[in-house]
Order: sequence, then structure tokens, then C-alpha cells
Amino acid sequence: MKIFIDTAKLGEIKEANSWGIVDGVTTNPSLIKKAVDSLEKKVSMENYIASICKEVDGPVSLEVKSQGAKEMIEEAKKLYNMFNHVNNNVVIKIPVNTAMQDDQENYEGIKAIKNLEEREIPTNATLVMSPNQAMLAAKAGAKYVSPFLGRIDDYIRVKMGLKPGRDFDKVSYFDEKLLEKIKHEKTKEIIREEIKEDIGRIYVNERLKAFSTDVKSGVDVVRKIKKIFENYKFETKIIAASIRNARQVMEVAETGADIATIPFDVIAQMIKHYKTQEGMKNFTKDIIPEYEVLFKK
Ligand code: G3P
Repeated sequence: MKIFIDTAKLGEIKEANSWGIVDGVTTNPSLIKKAVDSLEKKVSMENYIASICKEVDGPVSLEVKSQGAKEMIEEAKKLYNMFNHVNNNVVIKIPVNTAMQDDQENYEGIKAIKNLEEREIPTNATLVMSPNQAMLAAKAGAKYVSPFLGRIDDYIRVKMGLKPGRDFDKVSYFDEKLLEKIKHEKTKEIIREEIKEDIGRIYVNERLKAFSTDVKSGVDVVRKIKKIFENYKFETKIIAASIRNARQVMEVAETGADIATIPFDVIAQMIKHYKTQEGMKNFTKDIIPEYEVLFKK
């Protein structure tokens, strides 16, 4: 599995890249904001992004800012022309659907992806939350799709009645099996309550409907996308995104996802293990003078 770094902080990109583990970079407007907020001095955005592109010899995703296909295509062309010459590695992030409310039909993202594919500008369909969205983006010609694992998990937990901050936080591990069990028990409880009243109400119970998510977790979305892409031999690559902890990285690697884009602090978690620390202490303690001598020669 390739590893992209999910940050726009140049310091983090440079540091992780120096370890030889970075195959690409993903940014978005929120990550750019975080990076700029963390800087002491004002910077030229153009120079800053050019430095990111120069630093990594792998795809760098840069996101458009509008919602209409026409505008997004113009922005994509601008970003591509401005930065692709630096290291020939720019990929344009296009939201798969740019609607901000439920009652809008919206194919702007898909239209933009299709148009950019014809211009040979590579795209990364972002904010993908379902296998169906991934399939449409792949059909339209996206080079990458980015399912947002952590946000899918947040959504499922909230639908199940769990409260962010009280029952889980941003980095909590999403235990797919445990949550399935809770879901099962809660379903039985609701059905028991309703049966006493009126069996017909089971079918209209809002709480039950809330449980009827078609996916089990963010990792499950990746698993399903992988299966669909394999079934139909789509060449689109899967970037598992919105990764919140190291266990998720391991689980997406097991699904066969092509790429995981990982925040710097999660990469730091991946290298840690209590038993490695303990082993280090013991090895260091056990160094005998005869062995020490070898290093003095
Ligand atoms: O790669 C997408 C990522 O930056 C979003 O992460 O944790 O804000 O959902 P998060």
C-alpha cells in the first residue's frame, strides 16, 4: 500500500519524506488553512504550494474551491498550469457532489471529473462517502477516489444515537463488530417495545430506519469499493482518507486499498509499540564491555 501524507504543513511533509515513506501528498482547503495558521510569517501561497510539489516525487492533490462544474474546471486548469510544471505531479481534487443540502440534485463534480479526464488532467474524487459515489466517479474517469473513513464512522455512530464528545471522539477506534452487536441488541429492544403496541409501527419506526445504513464502517466502504473496482476492472485507485488512528491504517491495508493518506500524528502512532520500547531498554542494559569495545575501534 502506498502512503500519502494528509497535510499541507511543509515541515511535516519534509520530515516524513526524509524517512523514505511518503509516496504522495493530499491537501484540502481545511488543511491549507491549518498549515497557514501554524506559520509564523506570511507566505506567498504560490511559492508555498510549489515547495510542496517540489518536495515529493509523487502525486500532490490540490483542491478546487467552487461548486459549479464550469468554475471547477477553470480552477483545475489554473492549479494544474500553475504547479504541474514544478514536478509533474499535480492531481486535482474535485468533490464528488458539491450540493450542500439534501433537496439538490447535483452532478457538478462528476461533470468536472469527466471534462478534466478528457483534458488529461488527473483528478481525485473527494468527499466520497459511499461505494456508489466511488463507482460514478470511476466511470466518469477519476484517477483516484478518496473515501473519507473517519467521517463515515462519525456519521454511523451519530445515526446510532451515540454522541460525539460523550461516547466517542475524533480519534476513537471504530469497532465495527461491537457496534454491529449494539445495533442488533437495540433493534431487538425497539421491536420488543413496538410489538406490544402495534406490529405495523415496526415498519415506520424512525429509530429502526436510522440503523439501516448500508455499510458497517468507513473501512467497510473501502472494502466494498475495492470489490466493485475489481469486479469491473476499473483502473481508478482508492485513497483511504480521513484516517484517524493507526488501527484503521492496518485495516485498510488488509482491504487491499491502493493508498492510505495519513496525518503526521497517525504515522507517528504507527511506529510505536510498548514491547519495542521495553526491548530497547533491555538490549541497552545488557550491553557488555566486551561488546562495547567493538565500537571503539
Ligand atoms: O483526507 C481527508 C482528510 O483530510 C479529512 O480528515 O479527519 O478531517 O475527516 P478528517
